[in-house]
Amino acid sequence: MNWASLDWEVLDRLRQTFLSEAKTAGPYWHTVTDLGCYNLTYGERIGWKWDAMLAELKRRNWTPPAGATVLDWGCGSGIAGRRVLEFFGPANFTRLLVHDHSELAMDFSEHVARRQFPALAVGRAEPLSFRAEGPIDVLVLSHVLNELDETARAELAGLCIRARAVLWVEPGTHEVSRALGGWREKMRAVGLNVVAPCPHQGACGVLAAGNGRHWCHFFAAPPANLLADSGWVKFGQRAGIDLRSLPYSFLVFDRRPGATPPGRSCILGEPRHYKGYAKIFNCDAGGVAELMLQKRDAPELFKQLKHGAGPGLRRWKHAAGRIAATDPV
Ligand SMILES: C[S@@+](CC[C@H](N)C(=O)[O-])C[C@H]1O[C@@H](n2cnc3c(N)ncnc32)[C@H](O)[C@@H]1O
Repeated sequence: MNWASLDWEVLDRLRQTFLSEAKTAGPYWHTVTDLGCYNLTYGERIGWKWDAMLAELKRRNWTPPAGATVLDWGCGSGIAGRRVLEFFGPANFTRLLVHDHSELAMDFSEHVARRQFPALAVGRAEPLSFRAEGPIDVLVLSHVLNELDETARAELAGLCIRARAVLWVEPGTHEVSRALGGWREKMRAVGLNVVAPCPHQGACGVLAAGNGRHWCHFFAAPPANLLADSGWVKFGQRAGIDLRSLPYSFLVFDRRPGATPPGRSCILGEPRHYKGYAKIFNCDAGGVAELMLQKRDAPELFKQLKHGAGPGLRRWKHAAGRIAATDPV
């Protein structure tokens, strides 16, 4: 599939589905072409979010358990599982399993993954092993949350209980991000530690009373020169998407201990810049709060934040809503 062979009407129909309640009414992939068109466009954009999230995991020195099996649940075209394998190297994994309630999606994902990783065992999660009690090494979830009914959420919760690690990326919308935050609390309750983005293991500050208008999200960088590509420009116009903005939310969990060192912070969303100061929305073990950073207090950091923040860990002291001292991490 390429821009020349792409079926734009298929993408129009998929967009209608994603925007409506139809997405929760059962499998919506009609043909393999649907998945090919999705994979080249929506799927690739999701891939850029995974790239940003995986880069952050690398900064935090996280690696998957040795020889892990990856289960990409709600795989669609399988972009998420493939991004994970590509990032850490397929030789570091034993198997890729895909699962979706659409047979077509599993066919497509298996086929593309076998072509991309010829030396890796690739298959679909068989219903028996799938419902078994054994552990799941790395559970990969991507853009599934707003399609799940109660039964599916219960199935997913059962998988999370068995997971050694969970890598989960969702859109950066207020609604989905806060729903993901609810899953963070469930995961902590079944013994999973938060690896990222949270700089602490406590309760989520965004979900605390009084913070209903906030949400935990970040922005990934789309490839440079994207707007010079006529295929992408047409896609952005037709789908009504601003290609320059790629908001996402994510959560990564692991059962292995290895908590974030204390005293770390993380910036949610993007800093807002004014003359001589910036405002950031800060998350740390004490909760979330808007903080002001004066340019004269940390000129280098101030300059750096003009290019965006990302989910990286920071270290600073703050008092009365103002960052007092910064310390690069
Ligand atoms: C928006 S697509 C995302 C696909 C892929 N994970 C990605 O990030 O590109 C959502 C996928 O979840 C699948 N899905 C929805 N409900 C499901 C369920 N109850 N069980 C398994 N898969 C489900 C859909 O068939 C679809 O492939």
